[in-house]
Amino acid sequence: MSLPSRHALVPFVSVDHMMRLVLHVGIERMMLELADAIEADFRRWPDFDKTPRVASHSDIGVIELMPTSDGQQYGFKYVNGHPSNTRQGLQTVTAFGVLADVATGYPVLLSEMTILTALRTAATSAMAAKWLAPRDARVMAMIGNGAQAEFQALAMKAVCGIEEVRLYDTDPAATRKCAANLAGRGLRIVSCTTAEDAILGAQIITTCTADKQYATILTDNMVGGGVHINAVGGDCPGKTELHRDILLRAGIFVEYPPQTRIEGEIQQLAPDHPVTELWQVITGQTQGRTDAAQVTLFDSVGFAIEDFSALRHIHQRLQGAQFFQDLDMIADPDDPRDLFGMICRADLHSSVA
Ligand SMILES: NC(=O)c1ccc[n+]([C@@H]2O[C@H](COP(=O)([O-])OP(=O)(O)OC[C@H]3O[C@@H](n4cnc5c(N)ncnc54)[C@H](O)[C@@H]3O)[C@@H](O)[C@H]2O)c1
Repeated sequence: MSLPSRHALVPFVSVDHMMRLVLHVGIERMMLELADAIEADFRRWPDFDKTPRVASHSDIGVIELMPTSDGQQYGFKYVNGHPSNTRQGLQTVTAFGVLADVATGYPVLLSEMTILTALRTAATSAMAAKWLAPRDARVMAMIGNGAQAEFQALAMKAVCGIEEVRLYDTDPAATRKCAANLAGRGLRIVSCTTAEDAILGAQIITTCTADKQYATILTDNMVGGGVHINAVGGDCPGKTELHRDILLRAGIFVEYPPQTRIEGEIQQLAPDHPVTELWQVITGQTQGRTDAAQVTLFDSVGFAIEDFSALRHIHQRLQGAQFFQDLDMIADPDDPRDLFGMICRADLHSSVA
């Protein structure tokens, strides 16, 4: 059988490659680079094709496709969300994605995105906090200490200069895991036994819990003036983390309103409740935080452009053959119209062999 041509081959970043790449670059540097890449794409927001992600819901989870294009390249991510998975030893969120060339439609990258989603979600949170949180924020609360948690804490350290992280999870084993993973990384770690304790003195409160229901991780009386809330875990219809009263007094910042109104904390509000698009703050078209006492909320749900930025960044970062392997993924007959003939010839070759 003849070897695949160069048109047939697509670089594939496996989980093993992604781990090597992250360790090679350094996790905090990776966060900084991804935050910059995402911010650069938010600055050219109008260039992108945008659509709410396509979600297929079941009683216990969701599978979603997240496409976008800037006219030069096209990207999509496959991602699931199954909060009960951890009880079977499976992850809540797994993902993979593709980047393609718009001119030919040919894929240029296939990548694992379970790790990349955690990286890009944390980088996006930190990028938003850089624009919205109080300038002197040094303490963050991290409520929900699962798979995303360490990434969230380290991105806030790298991008916003956070020095202390206060951890809380309903499962103390998750908090122990998170504290152990973060030890020795230049953060003061405080493990807490209640959410109230975790938010003491925090200027940034991140909620990143997983439960397919309207949960109330924060009630209105828990949130003092001037804090920035980074609400990550409410990202599906019927799945939220904040009491509605917090939303009614917060300045609310979102990625793409048509998607966030379906999936975010603001699904609890009237469909015309005012929200600000984060890209407009970054481009200077709208004000971010208006005063020191304002409660700001980044109602994060995760938008396709963040995955596109992350895939492009990884594509640029691939060095030699160190962090990818070529996959024989695109059929490439000698005569483009002779796909059938290619199979017949392959059959002949293999029967000779
Ligand atoms: N916005 C985004 O872009 C984005 C991206 C990735 C994941 N997510 C969401 O973030 C959430 C966390 O993801 P993960 O991969 O870390 O999940 P995970 O299952 O690994 O961790 C979730 C943690 O939340 C804890 N928890 C559940 N209810 C809690 C409560 N009431 N108070 C405190 N802790 C509680 C669980 O014990 C668990 O340790 C999920 O809901 C996921 O869908 C959002």
